[in-house]
Order: sequence, then C-alpha cells, then structure tokens
Amino acid sequence: VQRKMSTLPRVFVTRQIPPEGLKILRDSGQVNFELWDSDDVPVPRKELLEKVRGVDALLCVLTEKVDAELLEAAGPKLKVVSTMSVGFDHLSLEELKRRGIRVGYTPDVLTDAVAELTVALLLTTSRRLIEATHEAKTGGWGTWRTLWLCGHELANSTVGILGLGRIGVAIAERLAPFKVKKFIYADVAPRPELAASINAEYVSLDELAERSDFLAACCALTPETKEICNRRLFSKMKNTSIFINTSRGGVVNQEDLYEALATGQIAGAGLDVTVPEPLPTTHPLFTLKNCVILPHIASASYTTRNAMSALAANNLLLGLQGEPMIRELKL
Ligand code: DGY
Repeated sequence: VQRKMSTLPRVFVTRQIPPEGLKILRDSGQVNFELWDSDDVPVPRKELLEKVRGVDALLCVLTEKVDAELLEAAGPKLKVVSTMSVGFDHLSLEELKRRGIRVGYTPDVLTDAVAELTVALLLTTSRRLIEATHEAKTGGWGTWRTLWLCGHELANSTVGILGLGRIGVAIAERLAPFKVKKFIYADVAPRPELAASINAEYVSLDELAERSDFLAACCALTPETKEICNRRLFSKMKNTSIFINTSRGGVVNQEDLYEALATGQIAGAGLDVTVPEPLPTTHPLFTLKNCVILPHIASASYTTRNAMSALAANNLLLGLQGEPMIRELKL
C-alpha cells in the first residue's frame, strides 16, 4: 500500500529526549517528526547534515552545533530551532537571525535543579567530601585528627556570583541560610531588581575575585565571557577561596585553573562543565585532590529534564504556528 505523503511540517529531533516532549510532539498531530533514536550516542555530524535536509524545524540538544554549515544543509524551509537547554553557545545566533529562523530555549524550568546541584558541588568541594570518602574507604582514616580534612565554611563568608541571572539568584537564595555574610556580583551592568532580592552588591570583576570566599560562575558563554576566569582572575583570589563552575567550561581557561589549584593560589574548584566534554580521563585536572569534576549533570533531575523536554517541544510547535513561543531567544 502506498502511504500518502504527509503535508505536515517536517521536524528532526536530534535525541531520544525525555518522554514528555516526545508525547507532546506525537499527540499534537501537527508535525511529522523523525527522531535520532538514541540518548547514548549523539547523531554523527554527517548524518545530522543529511537528516536536516528540507526540515521545517529542528529540536536539538547542546551537543549539536547549529552553524552556517548546518543551516545551509537544512535549506530555506527551516523556520524554527528549539534547543532543549538554557545555554545557547552551540547555536550561531547571527546565522539564525540572518535567515529569520526563530529560536526556542528552556530557561526557568531548570533553575531549581541547577541551583541545587551548584550548592551540592560547592559543599562537596569546600568540605572535601570526595577526598574524605576516599580516605575512609582506603585506610587513610586513622585516629581523629585536629586539622585533618579541614575545609572552608560558608558561615560568615562572602559569596561572589559572576553573571547574576535567574540561576545566580536561586543559588544565593539557597546559600543564604548557611549564614553567608555578603553576596557580591559582577556582570556587564548592574541588575538592581535581581540583586535586591538577595541584597547583593555590584562590584568590578577584580573586586569579585579579591573579595569572594566562594566564587560561582553563573554566566552564559559568549565571546565576552570566553575564558574570563583566567590567570588574571585566579591570581587576585584568596588562597582560601573556592571556585565553582556550573555554567559552561568555556568561561574558564583550564590551564590557568590547573596552575591556580596545583600551586595553592586558590583552595579548590568544583566543575560541572569542562572543555571538552567528556573531559578525557587523562586530563591533568583529574590528578588534583582539590578539584571536583562532575559530568555536566546540574539540570539532571527527572522532573527538570522532562520539563525541559516538554518546553522544547511546545516552543517548537508554537514557533511553527507562527505564535509567540513560551521561551524564545531574542535575536
Ligand atoms: C543547559 O540547559 O544549557 C544545561 O547545560 C543542560 O541542562
């Protein structure tokens, strides 16, 4: 039997995304979508370039580079790109804008999960939990010792936020009950409304480095923030300070961070993001006791990943209908 050619808009979904989003696409009856049916292996670039040919919309995750090459391969029918992420550094915004392609992303729904993980990573790093469990398990646990495995506490500390947005505020709200003395932040401009809710003071980048006992990078990766956490910044930090990054690995110069950690310029670092990802197991950062590395899991709760999936699907459908998306990037 010959199947009638569907006239529905064609969509390519680059991952087996969590079920809520797939259900929304399926139940909408509005799109004819093809799925890269794996979550373990990203679609190979060559295959992706073939799959996007002639599609009306693309639903992607952060492992897909949406650049001029991909947009050329897709062709002029492509009207909507919906990414299941709050980060958009994998998208060439200029190329998308030039072609009038609308872009959906998934802020807000992951703020709680990311803030929660950031606090967990901060405490894990500052109180040296990974080292501690290792010592307990491998015979390093001798008698109770007065200065053994001592770390740095949040009480009475100054917490610095690099890039104050939704996530930075949510982190500060969670840290405040730990008796943080002062929140400070650096950004391209003051953000009085956001800052007011956490009573945070706007400071220069240098001052952020100098005053922070804990410095959390919460900014988007852009040409301006690329490797903004570098030797210059680390050299201004206190020897007792902890650096935390749950934004993008690209905001850090990793050689400079290694140096700062290995020489004791700073006390420790907790990273949920690196360059590249996955970070090779032979990477020097893995040799440091004072560096905790997680495999990019800040938003990884079942609730949040499903919400991201649903939002990405809804953004895509609304975009195809010519309606305002729930969360659309202003290009
Ligand atoms: C994002 O959404 O950009 C995160 O890095 C993954 O949740």
